[in-house]
Amino acid sequence: MLPDGRRRITQKDDADSFIESSISEIREIIGDSSAIVGVSGGVDSTVAAVLVHRAIGNRLHPIMVDHGLLRHREVESVVEPLRELGIDVSVVNAQDRFLSKLSGVTDPELKRKIIGEEFIRVFEDEARKYKDVSFLVQGTIYPDVIESGRQGDEKSGHLVKTHHNVGGLPEDIQFELVEPLRDLYKDEVKIVGECLGVPKDLLFRHAFPGPGLAVRVLGEVTREKLEIVRRAQHVLDQEIKHAGWYDKLWQCFCVLPDVKTVGVRDGSRTYGYMIGIRAVISSDAMTAQWAPIPYDLLDSIATKIIDEVEQVNRVVYDITSKPPATIEWE
Ligand code: XMP
Repeated sequence: MLPDGRRRITQKDDADSFIESSISEIREIIGDSSAIVGVSGGVDSTVAAVLVHRAIGNRLHPIMVDHGLLRHREVESVVEPLRELGIDVSVVNAQDRFLSKLSGVTDPELKRKIIGEEFIRVFEDEARKYKDVSFLVQGTIYPDVIESGRQGDEKSGHLVKTHHNVGGLPEDIQFELVEPLRDLYKDEVKIVGECLGVPKDLLFRHAFPGPGLAVRVLGEVTREKLEIVRRAQHVLDQEIKHAGWYDKLWQCFCVLPDVKTVGVRDGSRTYGYMIGIRAVISSDAMTAQWAPIPYDLLDSIATKIIDEVEQVNRVVYDITSKPPATIEWE
């Protein structure tokens, strides 16, 4: 069921008229003020940023927060294509402040809350550098609203996870939110993005959660564990892309559970980390099927991860769909 009985966006014409009406609505809301937007490289925040940039130009200040929970060369892969679209992103290195706040924290929802709040604090600090910033643009889409139980006026929806861009916002937030995509489904956001000229590499990237690798390092997040999961993820990405599987999957990622297992390498006993591989097929993340990745590809992924990430001695593949599991492990 579409919110407000609106027409579903299935083609360029629908997207063009959505863009046109959004631009006038955004201009009306923001008026002569300015806005900031956090870009993560995700489809939603990218499309929201490009749309609002179309509406208010350089009064939009795009910021990419490097919270230390990003993947290999993630900052460059986001900032460079956006620069080509005329959108100049300021990168804020906030690794120390996020990692120190997360120190000792093991509960997944608390991690999300801390990260969501810290994002806002960084945005507030950044906003002080510009004139008249009263708005924060968010790439919230309709499934986020439903999953965070914020549908309508809170009466419906039941909280599944507090996604940082919805439920994890602190109560004393100093911005008004602008959420131009909040009625859209992911496939609609992609059509809108295409019409706005967003490069395919950004539009067809797998979703990556706002709390990043913090919810893929299960339990306490440490720099060492982040580096392990980051390196394993880089190997996985290369293998999946090389085998032509990337575009068939909704998401494909590594998880580092908080367990060590016994192994053997070069004739000696090892006691190392285990990596979980999660690959799913989905159209909107509300439900997902585990992906039937061929055995020989799984084999080369496992072998390469163990070869290249010395702390890892075991790789397992997750064969659970959603429901009953969620896509992320935390
Ligand atoms: P789950 O794990 O709830 O994930 O089945 C559904 C989709 O949402 C992403 N996800 C998040 N995205 N902040 C985000 O921005 C979060 O806290 C978060 N948790 C899950 C997940 O990667 C999947 O695409």
